[in-house]
Amino acid sequence: MSDLKVSQLADLLQRRRPGYSLDAAFYLSDAVFQSDLKHIFGQHWIFVAVEPQIPEPGDFITVDVGKQSILITRDDDDQLQAFHNVCRHRGSRLCASHKGMVGNIVCPYHQWTYDLKGSLIHVEHMGEGFKKEDHGLKKVHVRSLEGLIFICLAETPPADFEDMAQQMTPYLAPHRLKDCKVAAQVEIVEKGNWKLVMENNRECYHCVGNHPELTLSLYEYGFGYQPSPANAEGMARFRDILAKSHARWEAMGLPSAEIEVLDSRVTGFRTQRLPLDRAGQSQTMNAEVASKKLLGRITDPAVGGLSFWTQPNSWHHFMSDHVVSFSVLPIAPGETLVRTTWCVHKDAVEGVDYDVANLTKVWNATNDQDRRLVEESQVGVASGAYEPGPYSPYTEELVEKFCNWYVGRMRALNPV
Ligand code: FES
Ligand SMILES: [Fe+2]
Repeated sequence: MSDLKVSQLADLLQRRRPGYSLDAAFYLSDAVFQSDLKHIFGQHWIFVAVEPQIPEPGDFITVDVGKQSILITRDDDDQLQAFHNVCRHRGSRLCASHKGMVGNIVCPYHQWTYDLKGSLIHVEHMGEGFKKEDHGLKKVHVRSLEGLIFICLAETPPADFEDMAQQMTPYLAPHRLKDCKVAAQVEIVEKGNWKLVMENNRECYHCVGNHPELTLSLYEYGFGYQPSPANAEGMARFRDILAKSHARWEAMGLPSAEIEVLDSRVTGFRTQRLPLDRAGQSQTMNAEVASKKLLGRITDPAVGGLSFWTQPNSWHHFMSDHVVSFSVLPIAPGETLVRTTWCVHKDAVEGVDYDVANLTKVWNATNDQDRRLVEESQVGVASGAYEPGPYSPYTEELVEKFCNWYVGRMRALNPV
């Protein structure tokens, strides 16, 4: 499509109709995409990895956010560090691989050498007046929330991350993600805009019709459903199970109540511990645990799934036996990376305590089904016949909250 000017984007943002999906330009336009990278992914806390990906000093990963490559390491004091993956000499990318282990960070071009805190410690042939201390790596804000690694590319990151961390720590801490290991990680590239990926995640209206594996264990009612004439009975039954489960889990010291601030703050999020159907233990094909070694201080396998959704780009399910995390990163207006990471207890032995195929089966199938839904949506919104359609008031409240948050942040950062 022909592209938008900034004033047209501001106009589209102002004209957005509550209760309806977004205009096609939000999914297709390169100008909107660049603005998303600058204002959404450049100014907010972005979920990018889990601590078990870099358990030891010297471990590193790189993550691409648009054109920016970010290097995340664990230093010799066991602290997380994040830098732009760009040499301070003539700008070469420092680490080309997505993960590895280093003693120091050595630029492949002329071997400028940085320590794991980003200080330049060794150069040759730069003369007397050259000051190493003026050429350290450019830092990026990084925070771990109980093992979930968030970065922020802004100079001054949103301050309300601290409040989210305070509220979420009691929910996440019992699972002790930091004492886990990565059992599997899968990257898929979906041919759809990142917002279509997120919107699809924020409703379960589509679950029964599309996710036969996921709905073996998951009740769709926990995902933003409101009672309606069509589902009154099922919803009442679910709410009864939810109340009884919460009473049991809270008595075990596992916070379970819903917190929902998706569109009412800069660092929007939602959490709730949700019951699972059948065996009630884990998101697997028989709803039993996929790994025999339970996490952290959890001793009962049937503690449902703690779901945690963050704006703009992640969701997570913390269960008794494993954690599955999803990071969504935009590549192009019609292309998005979805990185899924499954973690189990670090002492769990593959083939003895867990089987990777069993652990990953439900979400590999679900991701592929969601990919198809997102890709068909992208084709549809590009057709010219698309016009914003109405959200279901009973099942799509959280999609609307995602769009409210997105439009609200874009309005704040793209003033007319
Ligand atoms: S560009 Fe890195 S050492 Fe020259
Ligand atoms: Fe889905």
